[in-house]
Amino acid sequence: MSALKFEDQKFPENVSINDYARLAEQFIPGRRSIFTIVEAAFLELLPEAPARILVVGAGGGEEILRLGENNPQWSFVGVDTYEPMVTLARQRLATTPIGARAEVHVATIDSLDDKNFDAATCILTAHFVPDDGAKLDFLKAIHARMKSAAPLAIIDGVGVAGDDTTELLRRIWRRHAMLNGVTPEVANMNAENFSKLPVVSEDRLVQLMTKAGFTRLTPIFRGIAIKGWLAFA
Ligand SMILES: C[S@@+](CC[C@H](N)C(=O)[O-])C[C@H]1O[C@@H](n2cnc3c(N)ncnc32)[C@H](O)[C@@H]1O
Repeated sequence: MSALKFEDQKFPENVSINDYARLAEQFIPGRRSIFTIVEAAFLELLPEAPARILVVGAGGGEEILRLGENNPQWSFVGVDTYEPMVTLARQRLATTPIGARAEVHVATIDSLDDKNFDAATCILTAHFVPDDGAKLDFLKAIHARMKSAAPLAIIDGVGVAGDDTTELLRRIWRRHAMLNGVTPEVANMNAENFSKLPVVSEDRLVQLMTKAGFTRLTPIFRGIAIKGWLAFA
């Protein structure tokens, strides 16, 4: 089975890319907390001096908006492979002062010339990359663009399709979204999409990150089937 791409996810006809920010809030447990935790981690780890943050899977612009809001000392370079999500990010950033400190490219991480980043984020993106060598290369490409010992905040879906615990968490995920106002139709389509993502177990993701060169993997978040770590380049 080939991995489902972000842009190939099925949604009802009346749901557009512009609904992404609202839907993400409804679906992703602790969506706001994720950004607050990542901001707190970077405030703790980065010096007061200006810092450049690499945002992998920057589509929609959420992490740049949230991390940038109260931190004028941080600037952002984002990459995302899906042009409509980059357009959405640019549009949202253009209406705020953060836009002047941010650039978002339609690009893969391995094609980005820029490097020596002080920190990086990879939020809900690595789980779109198949574990056929591509996920390891993707993590290595992030690592290669970071300064030595710089922190990466990675938040990703975890699980093993068919495993009892994973399947239970997926059913809870669907109900959680409906309790947050998502219609059953959209929740069902999302559940179907989720089952096609090349999500891997926590152990496998840790193994891949370690192989890619990251150290001191430090769990910072867990919400149903989403797990987050800090890892150091
Ligand atoms: C679920 S969205 C998350 C966006 C953002 N990080 C957030 O939390 O709002 C996943 C994003 O990853 C992007 N994406 C998927 N595969 C990618 C890849 N290999 N490299 C860069 N971006 C990718 C998609 O285009 C999409 O915009």
